[in-house]
Amino acid sequence: MTAWGGRHTIRRVEESPGKSAMRRRSVLACLLALSALSSLAAAQTITIKFSHVVAPDTPKGKAAAKFKELAEAATKGRVKVEIYPNSQLYKDGDELEALQRGAVHMLAPSVSKFGPMGVRDFEVFDLPFLFPTADAAYRVLDGAIGRQLFAKLEPKGIRGLAYWDNGFKQISANKPLHRPADFRAMKLRVQSSKVLSATFRKLGAIPQVMAFSEVYPALQQGVVDGQENSVSNLYTQKMHEVQKHLTISDHGFLVYAVIANRKFWDGLPADIRTALDGAMREATQYERAIAAKENTDALAAVKKAGTTQVYVLTPAERDEWRKALLPVRRDFEGTIGRELIQAVETEAARVPAVAPAKK
Ligand code: LMR
Repeated sequence: MTAWGGRHTIRRVEESPGKSAMRRRSVLACLLALSALSSLAAAQTITIKFSHVVAPDTPKGKAAAKFKELAEAATKGRVKVEIYPNSQLYKDGDELEALQRGAVHMLAPSVSKFGPMGVRDFEVFDLPFLFPTADAAYRVLDGAIGRQLFAKLEPKGIRGLAYWDNGFKQISANKPLHRPADFRAMKLRVQSSKVLSATFRKLGAIPQVMAFSEVYPALQQGVVDGQENSVSNLYTQKMHEVQKHLTISDHGFLVYAVIANRKFWDGLPADIRTALDGAMREATQYERAIAAKENTDALAAVKKAGTTQVYVLTPAERDEWRKALLPVRRDFEGTIGRELIQAVETEAARVPAVAPAKK
């Protein structure tokens, strides 16, 4: 008896064996087609592993996230960017080799780190007091010189995509650094650049090349006495907690090369590459728009923390540093090339210098 009171006979309809086998085959065929479609879609998803060595809340970290957002949107999800910050995947010294073998697809290392792989030309950007302003740097990087330097990376299997930056570099230590003589016998961490080592040796310091991820513990344990970097890097790595003094010298400008594994990048479908180039252009504009402010904010945070005494070099003191370091330029004309140095200085000088922002 059914619920509504009517009589109802359920008749089992017997299916011939041939028919049920056909039905099973067509269900299987549909399932196979579905899995083929989904694997085809998955096959079309291109994963880009983007590794870097700084904290996410830095100009480079934020720009990498912006590139991810823009690249995934511009390719309607066909590209997926995986970001590995803070040396999680590879640290200095390993990352370039990993890129060359295709274990990672994109990096944005400081241009001070190409020397060990035999490309020393980028060390022109490590010459002290080279750029008076960020705009002077951008004019050089975005012009023929920047392109020529990227061409030096191609035989190494590396495609240069863009130049980012993290503003001007300052120097932290556990003693005040006002005059060149204050550097005497100081152990100072530097990136793997012969120009940077020569610069601080000229001031009487003892340069120690070290991976960025090792700087905080080395400062904490007294393995080195100080380091040079943007304030954003100093603050986001908590170096202010183990450095009593920070001298605002603006002696250098931290330039990044955004690079890709050349075979991977050139092998991308043309429409994808075009979309990614557009995403990179926009991410670069974004990075440069935030770099200076990120460092200003980091300096305010260091002052607020009260751990570190901040000292801004007077113009006279800065001139004294500049004079003491002039011979470094001459000493590197042989390795970097006098023409390249002169070309960078000429191009940089075309940008009207503005008074340095009050720190
Ligand atoms: C450093 O090693 O000090 C910096 O290059 C780290 C970075 O990538 O900003």
